[in-house]
Amino acid sequence: MLGLGSYNRAIDDLSYSIETGENSFKHPNGLDMFEYFQQNQNRKEAQIFNSAMAALTSSHVSSISSMYDFSQFNTVMDIGGGQGTLLSTLLKNNPNLSGILFDLHHAIESAKNLYTSEFANTRAEDNKNFLSRCKLIEGDFFKSIPIGADGYIIKNVILNWDDDSAATILKNCLQAMEKTKSTAITTTTTTTTTTTTMNAGQYDKQKKIQPKLLIIDLIMPEGNEPFIGKFIDILMLALTHKGRIRTQKEFHKLLNSSGFDITKVIHSSDNVNFISIIEAIPSSSLSH
Ligand SMILES: C[S@@+](CC[C@H](N)C(=O)[O-])C[C@H]1O[C@@H](n2cnc3c(N)ncnc32)[C@H](O)[C@@H]1O
Repeated sequence: MLGLGSYNRAIDDLSYSIETGENSFKHPNGLDMFEYFQQNQNRKEAQIFNSAMAALTSSHVSSISSMYDFSQFNTVMDIGGGQGTLLSTLLKNNPNLSGILFDLHHAIESAKNLYTSEFANTRAEDNKNFLSRCKLIEGDFFKSIPIGADGYIIKNVILNWDDDSAATILKNCLQAMEKTKSTAITTTTTTTTTTTTMNAGQYDKQKKIQPKLLIIDLIMPEGNEPFIGKFIDILMLALTHKGRIRTQKEFHKLLNSSGFDITKVIHSSDNVNFISIIEAIPSSSLSH
């Protein structure tokens, strides 16, 4: 991925970012990174970016799966989930789980090709299984995020954005979570007032729907010790519009101002995957 023409031009122009704090991807390439990847003429580079992210993610999916109990959910949505690398592992490890992969057109196209191409036939059963339990939805998380999940995952996405843009994504997520909850409550009420076909377990599970948000990302430690996130922070400076690696305090502030309360922060215990999971719920649900 670091060898992409557009990336090379951005890194060559790093001094522009250092001097101005502005985006040195946009400076020589004319567009922000994700706008650039959406152009038809840049499809090849978008494909390489999506595959590279998938490769990076596949190196830490097993760590992520062991850090958190994903079996508590009925449906997980991966927002900006790329080609679905994380989601396909979560679905494979949790046979009762359904998934929703949500991303821009180019990434959803890449995912469709990956799971249905001839090349994918080597994993035909796995792919069929994944596609039968996962919806692929294309859209823009700055406009709206689909409803219908009780676990909303955002992995390696918040680091691409400045605080205002990150807050817009989180507020759209909050809206989706609240709509999902009220849809589930309405359905439950209707079912109990008419003749119910649900058993007690199903009724309880539906009644208790409390969507959770999981931000899976690097967290910048306070202080001056060496950390891989510092290199990625410089990359974010060059490649995105004021994206960066945030400290835990900065995540607290961002989440609180977007209507969430953090309920748990889990750090990877190995020294290979410096990834953390921040679990948060809508602040409104704490006051009920
Ligand atoms: C750094 S990649 C992370 C991909 C994946 N979550 C992972 O960890 O491998 C950021 C993702 O955000 C997606 N994205 C960027 N802008 C978006 C938008 N406006 N709406 C939806 N997805 C977007 C990109 O297409 C890309 O897949």
